[in-house]
Amino acid sequence: MNNKEKKLSTKDKVYNLLRDRANTFVSGQEIASELSLTRAAIWKAINGLRLDNHQIKAINNRGYCLVLSSQPLSGTLIERELGYAKDKIKVIFLEQTESTNEDAKRIGNEGADEEGTITVVVSDYQSKGKGRRGRSFASPKGTGLYMSFLLHPSISPDKAYMLTCAAAIAVSAAIEKITGIVTAIKWVNDIYIEDKKICGILTEGSVSMETGALDYAVVGIGVNIFAPLEGFPEEIRNTAGAIYENGEAVDNVRNRICAAIIDEFIEIIDKADNNFVKIYREKSNLIGRYVKVNPYGDSKKALKGYAKVLDITDSCELVVEYDNGDIEYLSSGEVSVKKY
Ligand code: BTN
Repeated sequence: MNNKEKKLSTKDKVYNLLRDRANTFVSGQEIASELSLTRAAIWKAINGLRLDNHQIKAINNRGYCLVLSSQPLSGTLIERELGYAKDKIKVIFLEQTESTNEDAKRIGNEGADEEGTITVVVSDYQSKGKGRRGRSFASPKGTGLYMSFLLHPSISPDKAYMLTCAAAIAVSAAIEKITGIVTAIKWVNDIYIEDKKICGILTEGSVSMETGALDYAVVGIGVNIFAPLEGFPEEIRNTAGAIYENGEAVDNVRNRICAAIIDEFIEIIDKADNNFVKIYREKSNLIGRYVKVNPYGDSKKALKGYAKVLDITDSCELVVEYDNGDIEYLSSGEVSVKKY
């Protein structure tokens, strides 16, 4: 009898069913009727799977969920996956923190990073994840990736947003390389899969009062790799998404995406040119669309008007044309796609 013909045990059958729908809940009733099993047999199988180290959540009225995101994010595993940036980066891994951007800024303020090496702080959970314009960034444990680069770039502070664009390209390329999934970039700092935001980027910096130059810049990246089991917070439930909403993920995916982002980003930074803008333009989901322009990112109060996006310049400015024919080059602010 070969392996295929071998009769599957109840435990294997339950595992296969849960794995087919990994990271989503399947009710006990559904498992019972699909596999013709009693509740007691299912419970025994679930316990057996847990003893085999599978992480299976059980919630009353929702059923069972096999968690495939549980592969730990770890500094050692990230470093093991690094390629291009292996000798150029110092990875500081924290199981949990308030905000990796704040950690990186603290190191920047103390001048505690090594010269000639870029530092990146990575965490599995942020209790006070920061988004743009004072918003928070939901950073649940075990499902995402939260990382902040500390850099000393020789660019003027008003061009620091180009780091955000470079990071967006790095994230998009890394996700495609590791998962095969193609993403789009919404100027200036959001990454989308279809109509869901799966990544946000927040660039902050410190400017020397003496020289007016950047002392340091911190580029913070938050990626939703798996959807949190409890769902995204109410206020972003309709707009947020994850790379894997359900179903199978590639092995060791969080550590690999993290390492790939580091490699891609450092390579772009090392090149010190703006050739990456060509790819940024190609990946933009805004060119040719009508958008609402909010220079201060504050919904209705600051609404400047509706405009058509014409292009993205070599300095990553968004070129928009208002209905009255006025053309503006935006290097900051927020735009959102106009809904009809
Ligand atoms: C946004 O979408 O508004 C930007 C979100 C940026 C989130 C990342 S997660 C890692 C880093 N640490 C933070 O507190 N924020 C950034």
